[in-house]
Amino acid sequence: MKRIVIVGATSGIGLEVARLCLREGWKVGAAGRREEALADLKALAPEQVVTEPLDITRDDAPEHLARLIAKLGGMDIYLHSSGIGHRNTELRADIEIATLRTNGEGFVRMVTAAYGYFRAHGGGHLAVISSIAGIRGLGFAPAYSASKRMQGTYIDSLAQLAHMEGCDIRFTEIRPGFVATPLLNREAHYPMLMPVEKVAAHILRALRSERRRVVIDRRYALLVLLWRLIPQWLWERLKIREKVKSKR
Ligand SMILES: NC(=O)c1ccc[n+]([C@@H]2O[C@H](COP(=O)([O-])OP(=O)(O)OC[C@H]3O[C@@H](n4cnc5c(N)ncnc54)[C@H](OP(=O)(O)O)[C@@H]3O)[C@@H](O)[C@H]2O)c1
Repeated sequence: MKRIVIVGATSGIGLEVARLCLREGWKVGAAGRREEALADLKALAPEQVVTEPLDITRDDAPEHLARLIAKLGGMDIYLHSSGIGHRNTELRADIEIATLRTNGEGFVRMVTAAYGYFRAHGGGHLAVISSIAGIRGLGFAPAYSASKRMQGTYIDSLAQLAHMEGCDIRFTEIRPGFVATPLLNREAHYPMLMPVEKVAAHILRALRSERRRVVIDRRYALLVLLWRLIPQWLWERLKIREKVKSKR
């Protein structure tokens, strides 16, 4: 029976992956800020789920992670799903900075703690949900896009560090396209929007096979391939944005 810790298990992708892991018979250590949502998840399978409220922007989050791992009886997989994202063409500094605090500072706080645990316990599997938004700079969400690029690069660095140290830590970076979760703006229309159940199933397969990097789904993998071919001068002239629904 695998033991997976999911940070960001209170809604969206993290919650759906948690549900699938329970169906697989895995033990789940669930974390996030919302205690009620954690209690709801635990109620689904009380003997398989342990929970710990934590806020990844706070210094004490690694202590809570350690407590969660102890409740779980150890950790085989760490999945980082916590994140926030906002459209911010107005460049409101509070939004940009909050995004960096969660997706940047909070992310580093948690994955370094998970790495430290695996290093001290003979290895493990460290997986993170970044985004296709990190592949090229996106004008409608600068901090989100930049923070997702940073997450991918950070995992590349940790993967090299693990080799340098001879640690048996496997890494998976998951890059979804648009997924129907509370993170997205309800008023907007997103191209190729994917149901969260389908994305969670992809993620479980990627975790099982320990894929190093995966774009979800195939259509987005193709899109990303095309994005990479676009020269920078042209990329900067593209209008990439979600369409806001007419309120008529
Ligand atoms: N939806 C998409 O289109 C999409 C596409 C690509 C990548 N992603 C990425 O997928 C991940 C999950 O997003 P989602 O779409 O599932 O959104 P979501 O439903 O809003 O879930 C976000 C999760 O992050 C947690 N979180 C946020 N701030 C936190 C904090 N300070 N401390 C601890 N946990 C925190 C939330 O828990 P609490 O509020 O309970 O703390 C929640 O469980 C994010 O990293 C997102 O960037 C999403």
